[in-house]
Amino acid sequence: MSATIIDGKKIAEGIKHSLKEEIENLRRRGSTPGLAVVLVGQNPASQIYVSMKNKTAADLGINSRTITLPEATTQMELLQIVRELNEDRTVHAILIQLPLPSHIDETMMINSIAPEKDVDGFHPINRGKLMLGADTFIPCTPLGIQQLLAISQINTDGKHVVIVGRSRIVGLPLANMFIQKKDGANATVTVCHTGTGDLTHFTRQADILIAAIGKAEFIKAQMVKEGVVVIDVGVNRLEDSKDSKGYRIVGDVEFAAIAKKASAITPVPGGVGPMTIAMLIYNTVKATKEFCASSSTG
Ligand code: GUN
Repeated sequence: MSATIIDGKKIAEGIKHSLKEEIENLRRRGSTPGLAVVLVGQNPASQIYVSMKNKTAADLGINSRTITLPEATTQMELLQIVRELNEDRTVHAILIQLPLPSHIDETMMINSIAPEKDVDGFHPINRGKLMLGADTFIPCTPLGIQQLLAISQINTDGKHVVIVGRSRIVGLPLANMFIQKKDGANATVTVCHTGTGDLTHFTRQADILIAAIGKAEFIKAQMVKEGVVVIDVGVNRLEDSKDSKGYRIVGDVEFAAIAKKASAITPVPGGVGPMTIAMLIYNTVKATKEFCASSSTG
């Protein structure tokens, strides 16, 4: 078998195109969506992600601003900034880029974001709603993965979805989503992690394998079955003396070997990554529409 390559970049472009129209409609009604992205410190990967989020949002007509703060910012200073953004009626969406410097309590900061502006879906109220299957902000990467599968017409109903990695940003919300009795879900879900003894025993059973581990090319071809659908969430640097930069970006799966066995696979880059940003825009538009609805009725 030779896998269909799931073109996340192209699918994300389509979604952003429709969102651009919605943003334009909101703007005409005097409600331009406002997004504030907060970046603390100099983490190089975070700097790249934040500038991509800001640029995409601005290109689509969102009133986007990045608040860049020094590494030495105190918890109280950051809390004050979040409080001001919570109160600001021109800001519908707030994102604090993670990880935060170690002297700042990440959980406390996430909890300080107004749940109705929490476009990452990381606030406990939004996480609780997601667990219960209620309407909420779904974290951007998991939502992007669900959309990638749906748009690629890959059915999850009755399938065995095996997720490798239990992070709060990807694995945990994904498991919550795919077990629900809903369209684009209703799967049998297994979550594997560092406590899993025989990982291959589980990964070989996967109809859909989602790798969110953070280790370069960790999943090998012998760990998957013929015909599997593979979603690769990893973004890792692998040293490569042949590359002019000295490294290349690879995912969590051994792409070339697994593509020979899989029925469909996402590439890295160009798979899940572009969908994450498109879903941030989706959640920002959702926050703006809900703000407009609550201010017209309240
Ligand atoms: N760091 C890595 N992924 C994410 C994400 O989805 N949101 C935020 N806020 N920080 C991240």
